Amino acid sequence: MAATGSNASEESAFYVSTPIYYVNDAPHLGHAYTTVAGDVLTRWHRQRGEKVWYLTGTDEHGQKIMRTAETNGVSPQEWCDKLVQDAWKPLWEHLEIANDDFIRTTEPRHTERVQEFVQDLYDKGEIYRGGYKGPYCVGCEEYKAPGDLLDGDLCPIHKRPVEWLEEENYFFRLSAYGPRLLEFYEQNPGFIQPASARNEVLQFVRQGLQDLSISRSTFDWGIPIPWDSKHVIYVWVDALLNYVSAVGYGSDQAKFDSTWPADVHLVGKDILRFHAVIWPAMLMANGLPLPGRVFANGWLMVGGEKMSKSNLTGISPRQLTEHFGVDAYRYYFLRAIPFGQDGSFSWEDFSARYTSELANDFGNLASRVAAMVGKYYDGTLPEATDAGAAEQAVAEGLARAVAQADTMIGDNLDFAGGIGAIFDFTRQVNGYLSEQAPWKVAKDESPEGRARLGAILYTAAESLRAVAVLLNPIMPGTAEKLWASLGAEPHLGPLAEQRIADAGTWGRLPAGAEVVKGEILFPRLEEVKS
Ligand code: MSP
Repeated sequence: MAATGSNASEESAFYVSTPIYYVNDAPHLGHAYTTVAGDVLTRWHRQRGEKVWYLTGTDEHGQKIMRTAETNGVSPQEWCDKLVQDAWKPLWEHLEIANDDFIRTTEPRHTERVQEFVQDLYDKGEIYRGGYKGPYCVGCEEYKAPGDLLDGDLCPIHKRPVEWLEEENYFFRLSAYGPRLLEFYEQNPGFIQPASARNEVLQFVRQGLQDLSISRSTFDWGIPIPWDSKHVIYVWVDALLNYVSAVGYGSDQAKFDSTWPADVHLVGKDILRFHAVIWPAMLMANGLPLPGRVFANGWLMVGGEKMSKSNLTGISPRQLTEHFGVDAYRYYFLRAIPFGQDGSFSWEDFSARYTSELANDFGNLASRVAAMVGKYYDGTLPEATDAGAAEQAVAEGLARAVAQADTMIGDNLDFAGGIGAIFDFTRQVNGYLSEQAPWKVAKDESPEGRARLGAILYTAAESLRAVAVLLNPIMPGTAEKLWASLGAEPHLGPLAEQRIADAGTWGRLPAGAEVVKGEILFPRLEEVKS
C-alpha cells in the first residue's frame, strides 16, 4: 500500500503475498497452512471494506525442478504445467482460496521483468563477475555456510548431504547493504515478525553479509542473464521478483503504484532471510519502496521434524478435508497453533476440537436457536421488547469480541487469538441460553412470558448474525449456511458485503426475518478408516 503514490486518485490496495511454491511435488499441509492464513487475512480486510490484493503462485525454475522433471522423463516446462494444472490450482480452489492473481515464474510477464531488473542492477554497478565455491543444498536452492552444516555435510533443514559447487558467477553486492538494512530494521520495528524472527535476522545481519551469487552456469533451466546467456539467474532472485512483476512492475505503472509495496509477505521461517535480508537489499539497490511486513510462520511438524514431501511426511490436505470438511480444515490449523510458532498435527486433537468447538459450541447453538424460532414463532424472528441486563451483557460481549478479533486477526495476524475471541463469545451465548432457559419460558403463555421468550430468542439469533459475519473470512461455506438459516440476506444483503465494523452494532437483524433450520453445520465425524 503506497503511502505516497504518483497516482493518488487510485485507492491503494492492502497487498498480501504467499511464498511461491516449488512445483517439484504436490502441495502438502505445510504449504496450505500459509495459503489459508493469507486467505483469512485478506478476506478479513475485504470485509473491513478495503481494496485488497492477494497473490500466490509457483516457483518453477532451478535445479530441483529440473531434476524432478528429468527423473520423470518430461521437460521441466511440461512438468510444471502438469503440476500447476492438476495439483496446485485445484487445491486452492478446493480450499476456497480467493486469490486475486496466480503468478508462475515461467510466464513472460515475469521473465521479462526479471531480466530488466537484473540488467538495471548491472548497469548501476551492483553486479560483478567472480568465482565461488561452497556447499549447496538443492532442496533449499541455497549455498550454505560450512558452519551451518550438520555432521560436516548435511543440510540442517533437509538433513541430506549438500553438494559441493564451484562456478564462475555473477554477484550482487549484498555486503554493502548491511548497515542500511540494520537502520531500516531499527526504524521499522514491525518489519519482521514475530519477535523471534526479527531477532534471528538482526543477529545474522550484524555478523556481516557476504555478496550473493545471483547466477548459475552449470545448467540452463532458468531465466538467462540478459548480457551473458551462458548464465541463468539464480532461482531465488528470480522468485522474489514475482512480488513486483505480478503487480505491474515495468508494465503497468498505475497498478504498480496502487499495489506495491506489499503490506504483508507471509513466509515460512525457513525462507525468512531471503525475504527479510536479500529482498529488501535488492529493492534498495533498485530504488523501490520496501514491503511493510515480513511475517514468518512456524512449521507443521511430524514426529519432531518439519513435515515435507522429501521426508515422506507430507500429508495431503485432501486427506483431512475428506474427513473434516473444508471449513473445519481452514479453522483448525489457525486455531490450534499460535501463528509464528511450530505446531504438530494430530488426528486426535483435530477430532477433539471439531467436536467440542465446532459441532458443540457453535453448530449446536445455531441449530438450537433456529429450531426454537421455528417451534415457538413459526420461523419468524420475534421482537426483543423485553430486553434487560442479561441481553445488554450479550451485546457488550459481542462488541468486545469484534474489537478483539479485528485487532488480533486484521492487524496482528494472531489468528488463534482472534478466533478464540469469537468462540469465547459463542460460549457466552450458550451460557446465556442455559441461564435464560427459553424452553422453560415458553411454557408461560402470558404476554409477559411471550415477551421474555422473544427477547431471548432475538438475542441469540442476533448474536449468530454477528458470528456469521466474523467467521466468514475463516469458514466461508459455513458462515454462508448460517446467514441463509437466519434469513439475513433479504434484509442486510450478501454476507460478503457485511463490514467487520458493523458486526458489533446490536440490532441489525430485524424482527420478522425468516429463520429456517438449515443443514447441520458440523455433522458427527465418521470413524476414521485406516
Ligand atoms: N519457492 C520457495 C519460495 C519462494 S518465495 C519468493 C520455496 N518453496 S517451497 O515450496 O519449498 O516452500 C514454500 C513455503 O512452504 C515456505 O514458506 C515453507 O516454509 C513452507 N513450508 C513447507 N513445509 C512446511 C511445513 N512443514 N510447515 C509450514 N510451512 C512449511 O521455499
